[in-house]
Amino acid sequence: MAATLTNPLRVGLRQERVIPPQCLIVFGASGDLTHRKLIPALFELFLQRRLPSEFAVLGCARRPWSDEIFRQTMAERLQPAIAAHPQSWEQFSQGLFYEPVDLQQPEHLVRLAQRLEQVDRQRATRGERTFYLSVSPAFYGSGARALAGAGLLADRQRSRLVIEKPFGTDYASAQQLNRVVRSCGQENQIFRIDHYLGKETVQNIMVLRFANSIFEPLWNRNHISSVQITAAETVGVEQRASYYEQSGALKDMVQNHLTQMLALTAMEPPGRFEPESIRNEKAKVLQAAHLASPEQPWTCCVRGQYGSGGTAERPMASYRHEPGVDPHSTTETYVAVKLFIDNWRWQGVPFYLRTGKHLAKRLSEVTLTFRDAPVRLFDAAAGGVSANQFVIRIQPNEGATFRFEVKAPGSGMRSRPISMNFSYDDSFGEPSDEGYVRLLADAMLGDPTLFTRSDEVEAAWRLYTPILEGLKQSPDKFPAYPYEAGTWGPAESDELLARDGLLWRRP
Ligand code: BG6
Repeated sequence: MAATLTNPLRVGLRQERVIPPQCLIVFGASGDLTHRKLIPALFELFLQRRLPSEFAVLGCARRPWSDEIFRQTMAERLQPAIAAHPQSWEQFSQGLFYEPVDLQQPEHLVRLAQRLEQVDRQRATRGERTFYLSVSPAFYGSGARALAGAGLLADRQRSRLVIEKPFGTDYASAQQLNRVVRSCGQENQIFRIDHYLGKETVQNIMVLRFANSIFEPLWNRNHISSVQITAAETVGVEQRASYYEQSGALKDMVQNHLTQMLALTAMEPPGRFEPESIRNEKAKVLQAAHLASPEQPWTCCVRGQYGSGGTAERPMASYRHEPGVDPHSTTETYVAVKLFIDNWRWQGVPFYLRTGKHLAKRLSEVTLTFRDAPVRLFDAAAGGVSANQFVIRIQPNEGATFRFEVKAPGSGMRSRPISMNFSYDDSFGEPSDEGYVRLLADAMLGDPTLFTRSDEVEAAWRLYTPILEGLKQSPDKFPAYPYEAGTWGPAESDELLARDGLLWRRP
């Protein structure tokens, strides 16, 4: 009976690799990420029966918690999500432990090493260790050094180090951090997280491109006239002002998430589906990318900052009135940039990237606009003839849409655009896993495919260096134009495209 109810597209969906016995050590365990993303992702892996029974999480932070307090705190913070699985949670939480650790204190590292031996014996985790640095980015380098100094990264096969974003704050600091982490372990032990790469739909960019023969002949400057990559959020800065004030949208979203989407969209086909082939191609395309005008970066970069907005029911305070934000802050909450890629495939094709907080819709997507038909034989039934577009919807409503012209019904011969749609939900009928589910599993499996290699992360920072330098040297050339919260960003961003005769896509 069950077989007849099975969606045929779901057959074989869960043939996952088995995670070996493992202890995941989370530094910063009392912080937000642990209970918002990491523990829920691990619990999801547990529910999917993908965690081995020889599994443990050792939470570490400065607070003097006990195992029991850690378990209780996680249980409280994960409500109501775990209420549906009380027995599973009970079982899972037996593998949660806690050790108070300050990575700057050598004697704490000695205690940590002893505790890890103990956990190994208790849970049979066999010295397989994944260390996760979810601490303030200022401590990534010293944290890695402390672990290496205590000999905890010495086993190159069985110990791994996961580092959260942001990896550096500019090109020079990313290079420096790379030097430090490489002195602590080998590149194949280091997993630099960009959670966008954990999204099913971001990985789907590669499958769409390289599992179908129809796209490849079109995927180049001969057929594509421009590319837009958008990550729009409806949320504001929330409680993260102390971080965001230093970061702004360029460092928070563009250098990492949007640039990763750019790399997957523009890279050459890898020779094989294996980590280094893919990461080589991504690094190569980022090395060939540059701002449309690196000498005058203010002409190809628009910064914005949200003012107040919203509705009477849901008023939104301006960025400068958010808790913890400097009332004169010039940090950008919106940024749009124009890039080119100097290679045979993309020479002359503009890539426009934009992201912002408190925009009109939550939406991340990649839009490829095709060149116009060489001769226009038919009039448009409504408005103008629109160019063919292929839209890869990263979130929400994950899927892809292809827009093309068909004959409008009736006696005339006029054309009208229609959309052909693929939706993950409709086709597969089950929501995709959160990015962290995939990424944590991959890190514990030692699979680096979806993590950023050192040269990629440096190439991504190098790309935006003219803007970051310009901001320091002549900030007045990079004003943060105000925009009303809940709209599509500042008008100046529309002008960036209008100068090229284009419009941002407004779904
Ligand atoms: C994070 C940024 O990396 O990504 C946040 O620091 C942002 O500012 C978030 O809100 C967006 O992620 P997602 O998965 O919600 O698109």
